[in-house]
Amino acid sequence: MMSTARFIAAAAATLAAGFAVAQQPAPPAPTFAPSNLTPAGVRSLAANCAACHGYQGHPAKGSDLASLAGKPKNELLMALTQFRDGKKPATVMHQLSKGYTDQELAALAEYFSNQK
Ligand code: HEC
Repeated sequence: MMSTARFIAAAAATLAAGFAVAQQPAPPAPTFAPSNLTPAGVRSLAANCAACHGYQGHPAKGSDLASLAGKPKNELLMALTQFRDGKKPATVMHQLSKGYTDQELAALAEYFSNQK
């Protein structure tokens, strides 16, 4: 069994280590690769949406999720921007849409509007 004194010493050491970590300067902001908005790049962005909205924006049969394919670009972009800004009620789309730049959201809206 650890004596009370040793326990306190160990706890103090753990705390001190925690403070040392907390006092380190903040790491520099990450730099991200520029968006790849070539057709292939946009297709791979759009693949992130397929898990829920289906391949090329066609949801699986029986899915309750909205079809994105062939919707007007401005409607899709409006929805995505409003999700990102928290102005449109959502469960998952708020968080998801925050991961994209304005240019990427516009490219996604265009991609899905161009699907038959
Ligand atoms: C984890 C599942 C999931 C993923 C991945 C996902 N969505 Fe959604 N999407 C939803 C749900 C659920 C809704 C309904 C709003 C809500 O509850 O968030 C929605 C709603 C939308 C709407 C509004 C459709 C309408 O007519 O109301 C658009 C546009 C949209 N998503 C675009 C996208 C795009 C673009 C991507 C990829 C970047 C994407 N979603 C990825 C689940 C998802």
